[in-house]
This record gives sequence, structure tokens and C-alpha cells, in this order.
Amino acid sequence: MSVTRLLDDIRSVGRDPRSGGYYRPVLSPSELDLRSWFVGEAERRGLDVETDRNGIVWAWWGAPASGSIVTGSHLDSVPGGGAFDGPLGVAAALEAIDVLRARGVAPRRSLAIAVFPEEEGSRFGVACLGSRLLTGKIDPDRARALTDADGDTLADVFARNGIDPAHLGRDDETLARVGRFVELHIEQGRGLVDLNQPIGVGSSILGHGRWRVRVQGQGNHAGTTAMTDRADPVVAAAAMVGAVAALARETPDARATVGRFEPFPGGTNVIASAVSFWIDARHPDDAVTLALVSRVDAACAELAALHGCTVELREESWSPTVGFNRDLAAELSTALGGAPLLGTGAGHDAGILSEFVPSGMLFTRNPTGISHSPEEDAEDADVDHSAVALADVLQGMLS
Ligand code: GLV
Ligand code: MN
Ligand code: MN
Repeated sequence: MSVTRLLDDIRSVGRDPRSGGYYRPVLSPSELDLRSWFVGEAERRGLDVETDRNGIVWAWWGAPASGSIVTGSHLDSVPGGGAFDGPLGVAAALEAIDVLRARGVAPRRSLAIAVFPEEEGSRFGVACLGSRLLTGKIDPDRARALTDADGDTLADVFARNGIDPAHLGRDDETLARVGRFVELHIEQGRGLVDLNQPIGVGSSILGHGRWRVRVQGQGNHAGTTAMTDRADPVVAAAAMVGAVAALARETPDARATVGRFEPFPGGTNVIASAVSFWIDARHPDDAVTLALVSRVDAACAELAALHGCTVELREESWSPTVGFNRDLAAELSTALGGAPLLGTGAGHDAGILSEFVPSGMLFTRNPTGISHSPEEDAEDADVDHSAVALADVLQGMLS
């Protein structure tokens, strides 16, 4: 086997033929197909597979024990995502075990591959939901009440998939099994391309959060309502989106995005009654991110009043800036012959876990530097080299 061949097996799962991108929401038929693929590949390798009470899938080489080495990533995707964001780390982990076995490595510690649910937060709105539940970083009552776009609660969706929602939440026994966590991931920028390096080591994750904005206006008839008589939330929300971009541009090093914008009910000849849109804001200094969002909040209130609407801005997800464990990052770099250290603007379960256990990341070169898009890419040679690099770092930890 090879990582490219493993990924070939899932190439058609959740693929939108129009865009060429993937949509694999957590516990949707496509993500469930990927989970089955993972379980099959793990069992073919003689690994013991279990799903824990937070919906995280674990495949064990050796008996589950406290202080084990854990690698892995996620299988869910954003809408229109690339082929590698998530599955690359899972496939590389499976293949790394083959590499270690071919080298005759007899591990002195157990190794597990973990597959985290809802890393992207694309279905229920909270990024890295599985690792947050495991570590107690989200209140289980709040998690159970989260809803998807169809109005289904997380509790119902988990229950339908055999995960008892009553048992969600911090799981000290499972967490204690994680002695170290190393996540391999496609790079989501041009760092490695510019350095002409196939693999890098994560040094930091940009702090980021998500806020939902709901603008309420007056639904009405597109033909019979004079322009002066309207309280149109789409017009108000469009101005708010402009304000988000303008305020972020005024804030050095900030990034702010509105990638989801939903007028309700959404008809060509209907003045909407409400709009929901979502802001993703990021900055290396968490205080700056929060100050930016406060300024956005004030601008939204002003713009809502100007257009005869009301507005409410609510935090959905917050992930502070992470500096990965320096000793582990240095060890990973040395094991890879001096691989460069890179910060990333993207969030990862390794970032959540890093508060609890030494955690690190490896990045695989992405020639386009594009991600969360079908244009995300990786050369076959780099994809296959990912498993060798992961095996190289794991070997040192296992022996
Ligand atoms: C996850 O990829 C994120 O950074 O939003
Ligand atoms: Mn990812
Ligand atoms: Mn992603």
C-alpha cells in the first residue's frame, strides 16, 4: 500500500462533480463511509478499533494504555473542501504503521490512530468539537443542544449513530492514554513551497473564533414596498459584511471572513425578514481578535439602526492562539533532518490537545498553497513521503 493508493480508495466519497470539491459533514453518509473505510483499513492491519463516548474513533497498535503515542486527524470536511485536509493525516498514519512494521520496529509503547469528529465545525458550528468534548473544553449540555442547518440537534444525530449523547464530555481515562499527539496535515499555505521543502513542523496556530450575526428586518413584497418603506436585512447585512472587511484591513495581521450568508426565507421577489451570517476572525494576539470583533459588533448595531433593523452577534466557537510544545517541535524537526518550523493560520485538534498533552504537527507541502477549496493539492511523492516522515518521528517515540 501507499498513502496515494489509500487516498485513491476514497477519492469519490462526498465529491461534488460540479466543483471537484468534497463535502463530508460529520456523521453524514459520506463521512460515515470514510469512517467505515478507516475501520476496514485499521482492522486489516490487526489494529483494535473502538469509538469512545465522544465519537472519536481509536485504532490501537498494542493495548490501550496511559501515556501512549497518538497520531491521526479528521475525516469531515468543509463544503467544497480539498482531498487532503484531514484524510491525509489519517491515511499517512495507517501507512506509517506499515512502514514501522516493515522496519521491524517492536514498539515499547502502544500507538493509536485517532479520528476526531467535526474538526471543521461545518455541521454544528463549533470547530474541533471531538477534541473539545474529550478535554472538557465545551460544556456537554451546550454540545448536545447544537443544531445543524436542518435543525437536527447534535444529541439526536449522535444518538442515531449509536453514540449515547448522555455520555458526552470530558473523558479523563481516554485523555490519560494520550502521552503525546502528533498530527500530520496538508499545509494550507505556501510556507513549504517557498522554502522548497517537502515537510515542515508546526510551531503555532493563529487564534481564531466564529461569531454568528443575526439581522432582523421586515419581510415584505418586492413589488409593492417603496424603497423608503423598507427594513431590508439583506441591505443591512451586506453593509455589515463590508464593515467586517474594512475593520479587519485596518487591523495589522488580522484576518476576517464572511463565508456563509443566509437570507431568510430567500426568494427573488421577497424582501427577506432575517439574515444570518457568520464571521471567522483570526489574529496572533487574542486580545486584538476580541477587540476587532467588538468594533464589528458596534458597527453592526449602527448599520442595523440605519436600515430599520435589529442585530445580534453571538460567539459560536473560540480557539486561542497556540504555541506548540517547543521541545517536541525541536525533536520532530531533528528527527526529520532539520525540517523547518512553520506557524499556521488554520485550526487543528492538535491545538486543542496541546493544552493537555505535548502535541505537535507535521505539514506536507501543498504546491498551490490553497486549501478549503478543490485546488488544494499535493504531489504524489510528497503524499507518500508523509508516511515515511511520520514513521520517522513515531519510531523515536516508540523505541
Ligand atoms: C480549520 O481548518 C480552520 O482553520 O477553520
Ligand atoms: Mn484539517
Ligand atoms: Mn480545514
